[in-house]
Order: sequence, then C-alpha cells, then structure tokens
Amino acid sequence: MQKIKGRSKSSKSILCLSDVHAGSIYAPCSPEPVITGNDSRLNTTWNPSELQKQMTGFWEWSRDQLMQKPFLILINGEPIDGDNPKELGGPTWSSNVQDQINDFLKLMKMFPKPQTFTMTRGSGYHVLKGNTSFEDQVAQLLGVKPYESRRSVEKKRLWNESRNAQIIIDDVVNFEINGAIFNATHHIGYNRSYHNKSQAITAMLAELEFARGKYWEPGEFPDMFLRGHVHYFTEVRFARVRGATQPCYKLSADRFMTRKGVPDPASIGNLEIIVEPNGHIAVEPHTITNDMYPKYDIKRFG
Ligand SMILES: [Fe+2]
Ligand SMILES: [Fe+2]
Repeated sequence: MQKIKGRSKSSKSILCLSDVHAGSIYAPCSPEPVITGNDSRLNTTWNPSELQKQMTGFWEWSRDQLMQKPFLILINGEPIDGDNPKELGGPTWSSNVQDQINDFLKLMKMFPKPQTFTMTRGSGYHVLKGNTSFEDQVAQLLGVKPYESRRSVEKKRLWNESRNAQIIIDDVVNFEINGAIFNATHHIGYNRSYHNKSQAITAMLAELEFARGKYWEPGEFPDMFLRGHVHYFTEVRFARVRGATQPCYKLSADRFMTRKGVPDPASIGNLEIIVEPNGHIAVEPHTITNDMYPKYDIKRFG
C-alpha cells in the first residue's frame, strides 16, 4: 500500500493571481496612487473612490485568507487595465500606463514576497501598445526569470537582436513544483450561462488529451491547467487531471460588460494551490462572499 504522507513543512504553495486590472476605477489601488505630470513637480495623487477602497479591502482580505506564505506567485495576465481606448480612458484613474504599473507594484508589495514570480500575457487590449508589452515591464520589475514556452524558438534573442526589445515572458508557461506539473495561459472561452460555466475547461481538458504526446514529453503532461480572462472561478477535476479558471480583482462594471444587460458578477479573489511533498495538489479559492459585493443603489421615487 502506498504510504500517504501528511502535510509537512515542505509543502509549497502557489498564489495564483489573474486579471487584477490595476488602473481601473473598478479594481484595487494603493492608498495614494500617483498620477505623473509632464515633469515630477507636476505629479499629483489620486483620491481613491469608495468603491476602489472596497476593492482594495478585498485585495487585503483575500491575502489574509492565505494558508501559507506563497512559494511562487503566478500572475496569469492583465496586471493592469491599460489606457482603455474604447472608452477614451474613462474607467481608469490614470490613462498613463506607467502610473498603473507603478501602482500594481505597490499592490504586490502588500502581499508576502514569494521565492519567485512567473507571469503570462493577457489580452492585448489591456497590456499592449503596438509592440510595447507592459507585462514585460511588470515582469522585469518583479524580477521574473525570463522564459520561453519553447526555448528552441529563441524569441528572446530574435527580438533582442532585431527589435532591440526585451522579452521576459511568453503566452504559455509550464512549471513544476514538488513534482506536480502546471500549465498556465491567460485565454479560454467564456461561458455565459451558469449551468455551462465549466464547459470550456471540460472541453479543453478533453482536447488536450490529443496534445498529450505532441506537446509534452512522456511523464511531463501537466497535472493541472490554469486559465484567466473570464473573471470567474470554476474548477473541473477528472481522475488524473484538473483545470480551473481563476478569480479576478475587477468588478464587472465597464460599459463593455453592460452591453448584454446586468453583467455576470465576477469572482473576486485569488486561488491558493498547495502542493504536498508527494505531489498531491489542494486547490483553495479565496473569493469574496455574496454579502461583500458592492450593491446597486435604489433610486427611490416615493
Ligand atoms: Fe481581464
Ligand atoms: Fe483577458
């Protein structure tokens, strides 16, 4: 009989963050976000709204729920909101992306410092301007160890030599902790109806069986797949593989979200994954409860 080890000191935890969207008026921010002027004498600070303070409260609350100091923090795309061109920057407190990056780094300082960070790329709308990748800047500032999903592509060298651009991160990251292998990338299909929320993850896990021997060496197929983008948490587990979509930190309130009426409430919070020394995985979502969500106002006409 296989001896099952209990939780020991050497279990390691992964704090999975995704879609923080710093810079949005619907996302957390530091107590005094700085808006830079044309020169530093013109710098000013933003007075966060009540909602922003609430969202920052959720940021801190979800940090306080953590059971372990994270060994690794994964940021699975969209640390910042970007300059939001479709709404002329409206739902951001600064449409200077540099201000958003600085504030995101301040938010990260509110979490315990992990042994290491890794990141993936989010949707271009939020994190790209032409060829400028704001996520690569964040990655550099957090000290993310540069990686490529396939080293043989030599993207880092090609970009460095042909475009004088520093590439730090890639779209897809595969990593191993305590013998368990994880695969993270930002995108996955969005499922609107609630009885269907886990459909995209289920379909993906089934489809990936066809990629098993093609993309991964034998014995290196991931034990768990992590996805962001959809802003709701769902987890699907089969006997030997599982997948999850991660919670986010942005309230669903941009006009983009209200096109179809009242938006789906996002799952606000993070995912803590504890990997035991024997490779067993425990997934703990730390998401706010119904009573914590910011409520709609009623306009009372009498
Ligand atoms: Fe997002
Ligand atoms: Fe996205």
